[in-house]
Parts: sequence; structure tokens; C-alpha cells
Amino acid sequence: MGLGVAAGLALPAIGGGVASSFGAFNRTVLPRPFEQSLRIPPVLTPTASDADTDYYEVVQMATSQEILPGLRTPIWGYNGTFPGPTIRARSGRRVVVRQTNALPGPASVHLHGGVQPPESDGYPTDLIPSGGTKRYAYPNLHRAATLFYHDHAMDRTGLNVYMGLAGLYLIQDEIDDGLPLPKGDFDVPLIIQDRSFNPDGSFAFSNTDPSNVFSEVGNVILINGVPWPRFEVARRRYRFRILNASGSTSYRLGLSSRQPLIQIATDGGLLDRPVSQQTITLAPAERVEVVIDFGGLSLGTTVELGNSLGSGELARLMRFDVNRTADDDSQIPVLLDPTQPLTENMSLQTRNVVFKPVPVAAFPPFRFAINGELFDPSIVQARVPLGDVEIWTFENRTLGLGPIAAQEHPVHVHLVNFLILDRDGRPPAEYERGWKDTVLVGVNETVRVIARFAPFTGKYVIHCHNLAHEDHSMMANFEVV
Ligand code: C2O
Ligand code: CU
Ligand code: CU
Repeated sequence: MGLGVAAGLALPAIGGGVASSFGAFNRTVLPRPFEQSLRIPPVLTPTASDADTDYYEVVQMATSQEILPGLRTPIWGYNGTFPGPTIRARSGRRVVVRQTNALPGPASVHLHGGVQPPESDGYPTDLIPSGGTKRYAYPNLHRAATLFYHDHAMDRTGLNVYMGLAGLYLIQDEIDDGLPLPKGDFDVPLIIQDRSFNPDGSFAFSNTDPSNVFSEVGNVILINGVPWPRFEVARRRYRFRILNASGSTSYRLGLSSRQPLIQIATDGGLLDRPVSQQTITLAPAERVEVVIDFGGLSLGTTVELGNSLGSGELARLMRFDVNRTADDDSQIPVLLDPTQPLTENMSLQTRNVVFKPVPVAAFPPFRFAINGELFDPSIVQARVPLGDVEIWTFENRTLGLGPIAAQEHPVHVHLVNFLILDRDGRPPAEYERGWKDTVLVGVNETVRVIARFAPFTGKYVIHCHNLAHEDHSMMANFEVV
């Protein structure tokens, strides 16, 4: 299986880190799928609340957690847990999080998908030094959506996230409350991450070598921090909020029962109407919400959530075990939350954003760049007037260096949600026809998106969310002016 993975990604063991990670792979005893139960990350309780704000305290600390049976894995966790605790917010009600960094290195916290002013957006060089504290204020201007918060520190986001610094941030609103979708225990988050382990149980992060600009691929699938879990479900409908929080890996989700995934939301919240999908591709940082109906299955049925982009055990994610009956008063409404689309005629400007390697006098002889620039906090590549609608054209171009320089890029834009207009002139896939903040741009592909740049001015980043690419240095600034 390991060889299959390596060959499939065409990653020769050039970086020392890659080699050691595959070495570790051979020695570590992997857990067997479906032996451990799914865990749900705890919901964080505010330390105080007033008329318009909930206040939270989070300490980023080094601790250890049992992930592989019988072994302790050192982690860096928000409040010492991996994944971090879930923050529940209300649209229009402010959240203030005081983050204390008790880790050995610097940190920065980004609320991914959130609409917040630059000083609370977790800019890569707006660091909380080890021992320091920073207060992040989130106005929660977004409608109901599944967001997540994660580390964003300059050049070490990949490491910090790998060590555990990511958690869910769920915004709820009255429209979502009012829909008859599954609620409470039947509204379940699933955070997908891949990891590799050393024989002592520690994470085998390989990308510490600055020459390794390729990717960070694991050989163990974790859902909510549990390897290939099983989840006992009742014969009824469930809502699943699925986040791909992996550093580099994309998944194509599908059910072994061949039942459809009834998709109800994208990154930016509810779709206008539900759509039935056999498979959904989820690149790093993308989210999707689906309803799965176990109601027609008999007791004792097992259904696997699989990944048709993976081979061997990486083609499996988790298993649902239907073990009881339950009342189900939920429904899948015909209309979810219809929103006003942005249309091409509203756009005042089109910008080309080219994702392409640039040659460097080092090994490997390229770095991933945006419009020919490696990330530099002082270079602003675009100045966008506040409130304007623009079309941005994301072009993935290669350098003729073979497959290592030809990779797909999950492109993420801070501050805004966008709609995908087209992929190489063709309509977007069905599962991505909703509000997005991250879009997968395939090798040599061109994807056009449309967004309104509001409501804050200031400097934000756009970057590849393959964290190995982001750290080396596929990121750029734009400024809303
Ligand atoms: Cu999820 Cu700029 O990141
Ligand atoms: Cu973001
Ligand atoms: Cu990339």
C-alpha cells in the first residue's frame, strides 16, 4: 500500500523528510479500521457572556493523546485537545477568543471562512510569540456555516496544524434553526485528516526540510482524531458536517451502500436546494454538509464512507453501524436558503492569478509561487475597492519539470465567499455550485470565480491550502481599499 501511495503521487524520495516518513511507515504497526468509536470534539463553553458577545479563553498547549492503541502521541492542541474544541457562534453575535500560546514556537490563529477585520484574521506574521497572548474578535457576519479555526503562522502552518492546531467553528442562524434538518445528536461533525506516525507513536511530520515543497501525505486516516472509526447510528436521517483538515490530501467521498449523499451545504453555508450526489470531492480546507438516510437499512447493516481517490486502507474513511431504531421527525426541505447570486455583469474588474512554480537556484529547482512572486508580506499584488465585485481567474500552470512541479492547488481567499463561474469554460461540478472560500484548481486548469470584496478594508491573503505549498511560499497579499 505504501508503495502504491508513493507511486500514485509520483513523489520520489528527494527530500530527506519524505524518505524518513516512508521509512517510519514501514516500521509502525497501523491500527485496524473500524475498531475504535468515533468521538465528537467537545463544545467550548464561554468564560463570560454579555448582551452581544461571548468570551472564550483558549490555551495552546503541548500534551499527548492516545490515537494509536496503547501509544501516546505528543500533540499541540487548543486547550490540549486534538482536534480542538468546537466553538459555536450565532450569526450577528460577537465572539472574542483570548488565545494564549504555551507552545514552544510562534502561532497565529485564522478563522477560515470567517468575515473579520485584518487584525483578527490571523495574518501569517501577526504572530503570538511563545508565552504570548492575543485577543481575536469575530463579528460573525456570516450566515450559518461550518467554518474552522486553525494555525496560520508564517512558514510553519503545516507543522502547527499537523501537530493538532485545528478545530471547528460553527455559525448558526435563524434560517438554519427553522429548517427541519436533523438536529442535536443527529448533527455530527466529521473532520478528516491523514497522518503518519513514528514507531513510538509520535507524528511523523516530514515537511520540516525547507526543500520539501511537495506535499504532506499520511498513511493513517483520522476522523475527529480517531483512526478509521466506526459510528453507531440509528435507522434515521443524520446531518454530517464534513471538513477536510488534511495538509495536502484530497478525498472523493462515497458510500459503500451506493446510497446518495444528499448535499445541503458548501463551504459558505446552505445551498439554495439540496442535491443528490453519488460522490463529492473534498480538497484541503473544503467543507460539505450532507444528509445520509439510514432509515431504509435493516439493523446490523454496516455502511462505509469511502474515498475513491485513495488505494488500500486509504480508500476507507469510517464505518456507520446501524444498530438501533429511532424516531425521525427530520425532513430534507425542498428549499434550503436561497441566496442572491453574483453575476458576471456585476464585475468591475477581472484579475488573473497564476499558480505556477518559479525556478530557484536551490534543490529542488523551483518554489510554488503566485503571479511569479514568492510570498512576501510587504508585496501587495492587488488593490480592490471596498464593495466591488470582481472576477478572479485562477490559472494552474506547470514548469515542465515533470510531475513534482505539476500539482493541483486548492486555492483559498480570505475575507470573501465566491461563486465558481466555470472550469476551463465548463460549468463547475454539481457539488461546488454554492458559496465557497476554497476551490480546487487542477493541473493546467483555469477556474473563474466571482466575489464581492466587503465589508472590511485592509490586507488579506490568498494562498494554496496545500499547507506544504502555502509554507513554501504560494501565498500573496491583496488589499481592500
Ligand atoms: Cu484555512 Cu489562510 O487558511
Ligand atoms: Cu481563510
Ligand atoms: Cu498548491
